Amino acid sequence: MHRRKFLHRASLGTAAALLAPLLGVGRARAAEAAPLWAELLEYARWSPSPHNVQPWKLQVVSATEARLYYDPARLLPHTDPTSRFTVAGLGMFIECLRLAALTRGLALSAQQAAEPRLSYSATGLQLFATLHLAPTTTPAALDRELIRQRKTSRLHYDNREIPLAVQHRLSAIAATYGHTLTFTNEPAMVSFILDLNRETLFTDLDDPAVRTELASWVRTSDQQAATQKDGLWSHCMGFPGRLMHNFFFHSERFRSAWKRRILGKVYTHSMHGTTTVAWLQGPFGTRPDWVQAGALLQQLWLEMTRHNLYLHPFGSVITNPAAYTKFSQRIGQAPATEPAWLLVRLGYSQEPPRSYRLTVNDILLHA
Ligand SMILES: Cc1cc2nc3c(=O)[nH]c(=O)nc-3n(C[C@H](O)[C@H](O)[C@H](O)COP(=O)(O)O)c2cc1C
Repeated sequence: MHRRKFLHRASLGTAAALLAPLLGVGRARAAEAAPLWAELLEYARWSPSPHNVQPWKLQVVSATEARLYYDPARLLPHTDPTSRFTVAGLGMFIECLRLAALTRGLALSAQQAAEPRLSYSATGLQLFATLHLAPTTTPAALDRELIRQRKTSRLHYDNREIPLAVQHRLSAIAATYGHTLTFTNEPAMVSFILDLNRETLFTDLDDPAVRTELASWVRTSDQQAATQKDGLWSHCMGFPGRLMHNFFFHSERFRSAWKRRILGKVYTHSMHGTTTVAWLQGPFGTRPDWVQAGALLQQLWLEMTRHNLYLHPFGSVITNPAAYTKFSQRIGQAPATEPAWLLVRLGYSQEPPRSYRLTVNDILLHA
């Protein structure tokens, strides 16, 4: 059934090419090669993505080749209208596959499809990149188990400062990608960012289009989260499931000022112990930039994980134009070629809950 659906989705131009590996010798070759790719996916499926949408699907062609597709039904037209953050997520996913392959003595290269942004109108799976594996003697610089350990922490942080040596190491990684990573622990600046993020989040959620899109990705019961294996589980967001459900599906109940104030206080309280915020600036104008930025973000996040350091992205401040202007003015205008594209709080916390993921079987396109 999967195969029929997939072939139906493939455009006419690519159907002949897609058929070959799915039939006869090609099919046998793909089946034999699947365990290796499945092993790499067992790591990459833990890659983060905006709202945990996990837009990826993988079709194994041979032991050395696979096609990475994205599912247009898993995109965010209102909260990521240019697709830049979803593409960065796909870049993070490729980076995880690459790191997982290195441990097996394999170098992974990706040949990107040419479209400048993801298609929101397409109805079937769309090719994102063709992946190739080749033997290499380059050792893995990072332990691939970090991919499975990494998590977003929306918990309280514990006020601890981030050692300068760790900050320098992270900034040096950013510099190798041509980006600048700036940290601040100046209390006035940290408060400014936390307040701006809270205000922006609630302003964004007043927009019916944004709220409706987000509502389709919130998972407000344990059973729903475990069954769907994607999206934003209330447990990971630090909100009681019932409250989150009512907020998204009965927003009229939250219009009064006093309820808003209480919600704002709950959210502010969840940021307790945050002493450091950081932002990344660098090329973020084109699809290849977004893929590279994703690879960088994955490297940084894994290096932080190695130091037991957690982060929590503040995406709304970047995507909401009014908030972005306030933020840019505060940090000092950067050249247009080096916009700030990621803002996070970071620090040390208890171990956060693990968000669900689709299984390898869900991601693999079966012949
Ligand atoms: C590009 C990008 C932007 C993100 N923006 C936000 C954000 O604005 N707020 C937030 O709480 N989490 C954000 N996240 C974190 C994801 O929601 C998270 O990675 C996903 O739910 C999976 O959870 P995990 O990181 O704990 O595995 C972002 C992740 C990525 C990759």
